[in-house]
Amino acid sequence: RKEIVSLKEVKKFQTRSEEFFPLQWYKDMLTSQPIYFDVETNTWNVFKYEDVKQVLSNYEFFSSEGPKTTISVGANNKEGTIPDNVNIMVDPPVHRKRRSLLSAAFTPRSLKNWEPRIERIVTELIEGIEENSTVDIVQALAAPLPGMVIAELFGVPIEDRRRFKHWVDVLFLPYDKENQQEIELKKQAAAKEYYQYLYPIVLQKRLDPSEDILSDLIKAEVDGDKLTDDEIVRITMALLGAGVETTSHALANTFYSLLYDDPSLYKELRNDLELVPKAVEEMLRYRFHNTKRDRTVKQDNCLLGPEMKKGEMVIAWMSAANMDEAMFADPLSLNIHRPNNKKHLTFGKGPHFCLGAPLARLELTLTLKGFLQKFSRIESVESFDLEGNLTESATGQSLTHLPMKVYK
Ligand code: HEM
Repeated sequence: RKEIVSLKEVKKFQTRSEEFFPLQWYKDMLTSQPIYFDVETNTWNVFKYEDVKQVLSNYEFFSSEGPKTTISVGANNKEGTIPDNVNIMVDPPVHRKRRSLLSAAFTPRSLKNWEPRIERIVTELIEGIEENSTVDIVQALAAPLPGMVIAELFGVPIEDRRRFKHWVDVLFLPYDKENQQEIELKKQAAAKEYYQYLYPIVLQKRLDPSEDILSDLIKAEVDGDKLTDDEIVRITMALLGAGVETTSHALANTFYSLLYDDPSLYKELRNDLELVPKAVEEMLRYRFHNTKRDRTVKQDNCLLGPEMKKGEMVIAWMSAANMDEAMFADPLSLNIHRPNNKKHLTFGKGPHFCLGAPLARLELTLTLKGFLQKFSRIESVESFDLEGNLTESATGQSLTHLPMKVYK
């Protein structure tokens, strides 16, 4: 497993908060060094919109199959790893079939069926927030919601949610260099328990399918091939890895942004809930840091200018590309009315475009709407110290706590 290259290592940030929102660095890179080779980390770094798009989507030259700089999710034992034959981080044409099998669970029909179920979870969590109080919105909403939603959509029985949440929490414990060994052991134990728990549920759903992701994966068939029970359990773990922390991060950052980037936005949204999807897109563009993906050069090429040699790693910085003025007018300002904010690259581009994007968008929209309907006003807490409330995660720096005052 390749060592993680965090943003801190590419650019010597002094603090977590600097890394949390590195707008100035992106701006500097976009103007002065839009493509450069970082000798210390041995990686190409690409920042411009068109270049990032090309690196992510041109699989003939940039492969998804090489080593990764970002932490891989799950655990390193038998139960925690994805078998090679279903691993989705491969290039077309092999990728097509693997993705199609997974797509069976992410159809527009599924999405319609999921909406009321997500709404129920949103309502349950929001009802738990006391009016006219100070709430830690990360702990109360952003952190638990995506895991609860996935458990519901997988079809995990309600009474097991608590155990399910525990495994998810452990499997995605933030990366911590000092305690890596200890964390790995915990993750392995959780992966084993999770596997042993879910496997019989898959067997049972084979006999008695219902409206959920497990049943969809059981039924999925492409070119005469179907997924085995073992593969399904492991795929669910990959889905947890792709969909839980990312969505939590997006939710937490959205609230952060409403408090600190533009405090007038909350009122505007509350007066017109139809604006919420636009706000969600702009938050994904503006506040989803630090999203980046790795590729490996597949054939020598000069497609982006400098010569890139086969085998070299390339980091495509999507959150920098989202700040490229060649694509977005006045990119450093938050503007939910920008006409093209859906063009952000936060969900990637090309054959690997996020399969869960419609689900993530739905979760974000329903949560924000539900929240706006219950609370008339939110306010930041003066004593909040950003630096002390960030932690290193697979996504970059993520908020661990975000206290705010909420009013009926
Ligand atoms: C792929 C971002 C939520 C499932 C991706 C990729 C990105 C991404 C950038 C492309 C990776 C690449 O090109 O190498 C996000 C963000 C999310 C989110 C920002 C939340 C705000 C979800 C959710 C799920 C999900 C909720 C499902 C439960 C996947 C899967 C892939 C993927 C299965 C692999 C697709 C493929 O390789 O063909 N995601 N994701 N994601 N995402 Fe998401």
